[in-house]
This record gives sequence, structure tokens and C-alpha cells, in this order.
Amino acid sequence: MNDLKVILDAVVVCKDGLIAFVGTRQEFEKNRFLQDDIKKNNAKILDCKNNAVLPAFCDSHTHLVFGGYRDDEFLKRAAGVSYMEIMKAGGGIAKSVELTKAASEHELLKAANKRIDELLKLGVASVEIKSGYGLDKDTELKQLRVIKKLKDENRINIMATFMGAHSIPKEYKGKEGGGLEYIEYIIKEVLPLVKEQDLAEYVDIFCEQGVFSVAESERLLSAAKDMGFGLKIHADEIVSLGGAELGVKMGCVSADHLLHVSDKGIKDLADSDTIATMLPLTAFCLREPFAPARKLIDSGAAVALATDFNPGSCFSFSIPLLIALSVLKMNMSINEVISALTLNGACAMGLGNETGSIEAGKKADMVILKFDNENFLAYHTGVDCVGVTIYNAQCAEHIQ
Ligand code: NIG
Ligand code: FE
Repeated sequence: MNDLKVILDAVVVCKDGLIAFVGTRQEFEKNRFLQDDIKKNNAKILDCKNNAVLPAFCDSHTHLVFGGYRDDEFLKRAAGVSYMEIMKAGGGIAKSVELTKAASEHELLKAANKRIDELLKLGVASVEIKSGYGLDKDTELKQLRVIKKLKDENRINIMATFMGAHSIPKEYKGKEGGGLEYIEYIIKEVLPLVKEQDLAEYVDIFCEQGVFSVAESERLLSAAKDMGFGLKIHADEIVSLGGAELGVKMGCVSADHLLHVSDKGIKDLADSDTIATMLPLTAFCLREPFAPARKLIDSGAAVALATDFNPGSCFSFSIPLLIALSVLKMNMSINEVISALTLNGACAMGLGNETGSIEAGKKADMVILKFDNENFLAYHTGVDCVGVTIYNAQCAEHIQ
């Protein structure tokens, strides 16, 4: 993760939305075929001046389709009430479920599109979006249809995750075995429709004390795997429950949060292909200790960074703040942060072969910084350093 290839005085050639060539100016000038092709196609030339060009960022964990806000809860937490206390008192995810049920598809789409505008400005060209503010068939499908529409608009790469198991809905809560009963409902009534209508690539679950147990999580993830979904897991966010270990056992593409991951969980992740996704903005907003990024990287785990943008625990998609926290609070090097936010993030949503690095054959998704080297991403602390975001070989301001 610390070993990035830097090309000085580089040229990138894009064609049909893909990267056709990347190399030094010298290599480019020697390539007659490329020169001819560029002339023939009257290619547009973008002079990046002396600025650094990086792969566009990949935000592999968000909940960005939701209705309403929970600013009151943020203030309560700031005054010392915990996330779980708010959840137990009927707030938290349940509140966003009410507000998302009340919102029309059109309203959800409009709000989500504005958030995508902001993400693009911050250099993000790929985003994973979860459902999970419905907790019933109709509303979960409504959220997923909104994600599908966003995808069809093709403004940014999107991967969709079904997260019906985000919380136990009130009809099942307090009932003996309610969690498992709800999981069985999802497996029987909802997942087949999600598959049939091709609405999600992944299934995710909030494996947490007081939410879904490890056994319940395993039940859902096994069923989802059998139906051909990729898997993700919210693991060890509030307590050390064994979510990371389960994530590895089930072959999840990523295990996310990991604030309280055990030593066994770290070892399992390091020995597996499951990506350990850190969400430092959430730890910061919840005033919890950060995930052990150093230990994970030093053990050999592949680490990704993502925002976890959502209306509750983390109403932030500030990439600049995320980078600052990763470097200053989690002791990651700037190169590790870049790997985590680009190629590893792409891999954490199954897009590792398509985006996340500047390589011939991949999608032309890049950022041009306002500075001549990548150190500024951290050094210019908390300030946006992205000058231009390029998605699909087009500058973001030209994207419809
Ligand atoms: O990743 N942990 C569960 N889900 C979200 C929070 C969702 C919410 O509070 O609305 C998270 O932090
Ligand atoms: Fe989350």
C-alpha cells in the first residue's frame, strides 16, 4: 500500500471513456500509432500544468439515499448521549426509516443527486450505496430503485448493496427471536425480488450487539451467497462481537468499521482476501477510538477507506477530513491513504478491474489536484485539494 508508482512528466491518453495509454512524455512521443490516432480523432488536450494526477477516489461504503435528517441526535451525542442509547429510545436508524418511508422516489432521487454533485467535486468517481432505511419490502425496493436510477444516469460509478438487515424493525423488536424472524422474512420475501429485479450486487448486515447476532448474520449472509450476491458486513463497530471473523469465514468482499476488531479478527483479515474498510469519519463523529489501521496494515491486511456517509452516525462525506484523520489519527502514510481510497476502495466494491488506478484498459476516472504532489492532500489539512474530477474521460463539470 505504501509503494505507489509515480510517473513524472506523464501523458494519459483516453479513448471511449477508457485509458488507452499512460507513460512518460518521451514514450508517448515515440508511439506513432497513438500520435496518428490522436490527430485522426481530433482529440481534446487537457494540460494539467504542473499538477499531480491521481486515480479518482472510490467511496466503498455509503448510505446516501435517505429521507430527512437527524441533526437533533447529533447535538444529543455532542452533549454526551451515546449512539446506542438514542437507538434504544426509538431514534437512530428507526427515525430515518420513518422519514424515508414518507419520502417519494422523486424526492429521494433529487436529494441523492445533490450529494453525488458534492462527491464528484471532492474527487469521488465511484460510490457504493446501501439500502436499509426501509426495513420492509416496499421501502427497501423503493430505495434500491432510486439507486438503480442514479446508476442509469451514469454520472459516477455506482455499486448497490441491499441492507435490509440494518436494524430490527419495530414490528419484530422486543419479540423473542424477533431478529431471526425478520432475517427469515428478508430471505423469503425480499431477497428473491432484489435478485429478480437486478437491484443490488451486494448484501450487507449490521452485525452488532443489540442488533443482529453473529448467528443471525451468518444465516442471512449464507442465504444471500447461495442466491449469488456478493457479501459485505458492518463488523465490530460498537463492541468486539466477532463480525470480522464471520466476514472472513463467509468470504465477504469487505468487513467494515472494525473499531473493536479482535486480534484474531485482524489475523483472519490479514490471511484473507476480505478488505478491511476503515470509516474514520464515523469514529470521529461518534467520538469513538479509531480502528487499528496500523495494526491491520502491518499484519498484511488490505485496508480501504470510505466515508460511511449517512444521516445518523456520520453525516459527512468530507474526503479532506477523512484524509486528515487517517494520517494524523490513524498513523497512515499518505501513500497508504491513497491506496486505501483508490484501488483498495475499488476492490472493496468489486470494481478493482475497472477503476481505482491509472492503467491502460481501465476506466478514465482521475483527479487533477491543485498542487504538484500528493502530500498536499494531508498537508493542506481539511481543505479540498481536487481541482478537476474526471469520470469516464470527461471533466465533472461537463458531465450531465
Ligand atoms: O454504518 N452502523 C450502522 N449503520 C450506519 C449508521 C446508520 C445510521 O445511524 O443511520 C453506520 O454507521
Ligand atoms: Fe455503514
